[in-house]
Amino acid sequence: MTIAYLNGDFVPLTEARISPMDRGFLFGDGVYEVIPSYQGQFVALDYHLERLRNSLEGIDLAINQSDEQLVALLDELCRQNGSGDHGVYLQITRGVVEKRQHAFSAESTPTIFAYPFTIAPPSDGSPANAACFTAVTRTDKRWSRCDIKSTALLGNVLHMMEAVDDGAQEVLLFNQRDELTEAAACNVFIVDAGKILTPALDHHILPGVTRRLCLDLLAAHTNWSVEIRPVTRAEVRSAEEIWLSSSTKELAPVIQIDGQPVGSGQPGPLWSQAQRLFHLYRFNR
Ligand SMILES: Cc1ncc(COP(=O)(O)O)c(C=O)c1O
Repeated sequence: MTIAYLNGDFVPLTEARISPMDRGFLFGDGVYEVIPSYQGQFVALDYHLERLRNSLEGIDLAINQSDEQLVALLDELCRQNGSGDHGVYLQITRGVVEKRQHAFSAESTPTIFAYPFTIAPPSDGSPANAACFTAVTRTDKRWSRCDIKSTALLGNVLHMMEAVDDGAQEVLLFNQRDELTEAAACNVFIVDAGKILTPALDHHILPGVTRRLCLDLLAAHTNWSVEIRPVTRAEVRSAEEIWLSSSTKELAPVIQIDGQPVGSGQPGPLWSQAQRLFHLYRFNR
C-alpha cells in the first residue's frame, strides 16, 4: 500500500482527497518536483529544493515550510513506504478557494501533496541495459515560462501524444528559429564532432536537475569539450549521439529520430561513459 503525504497527514494514497475547488485542479495553479530516492538516499535534493523555491517564486506562491521541514516530510514519506527505489512526486498548489476566479490573493492555504512511485535505478552505462528512446521532432508550442516547473503541463502532454501517435517515446522540440529547446519531459544533449552540446537555459527550457548534474559530472571527471549554446535542427539531424536527461532516467540514448537512426542506431560511446559517471555518483554518495 502506497502512503501519501497530504497537508500534514500521512494517508493511504487511495484515501487521499482534495477539493475540486483547489486551484491546482481548477487552473493547474501549482508547481512540482520529481525527486529520485534510491534506498532512502535522495539524488541532488539540494538542486531540487532550489528549483522548487524558484518555481514557487515564479508563480508568487509563498509556503510556511522551511527546506528542513520539506526534507523531513520527504524522508518520513520514504521511510513509511519502505525506503526502496522511488521517484517522489511533490506538488504544491495555491490551495482551495471559495470562488473560481483567475486572480489570486495571498489568503489561500497552499496544498502540499507528495507520494512515491517505484522506479528502477537507471543504467550503469553498459549499452546492453540502456533504456533506448525513439523520438519525433516538432515545433515547440508551449508557453514562454517553461523554466517554471508548473503542474500546467497540457502543452507537454499534447506534444508527448504526438510522439506516441507516431510510435515514438519522446518528442524533440524546436523554437521558431529551428533551435532545440528540450523534449516533452526531458532536457537534451547532443554529441556533434565529439563535442557535447546543450541549449542554454532561458524561459523556454526547464532547468533540469539532471542537466545540471550532468554538466557538473562532465566538468569534474572528463576533459570533454562541452558547449552551452543554441543547437540547430541541422546539428540535431546529423548528431552522432543524442541523450535525454531527466531525474528518473538520468541519461537515456535516443537511437532514432523521425524514423532515421541517430549515429550507428545504438547507444553511443560517450553516452556510455557519461551514464557511467551518474552510476558511480549514485553509489558513492
Ligand atoms: C519539460 C521537462 N524538461 C526537462 C526535464 C528534466 O528535469 P529533471 O532533470 O530535473 O528531472 C523534465 C522532467 O520532468 C521535464 O518535464
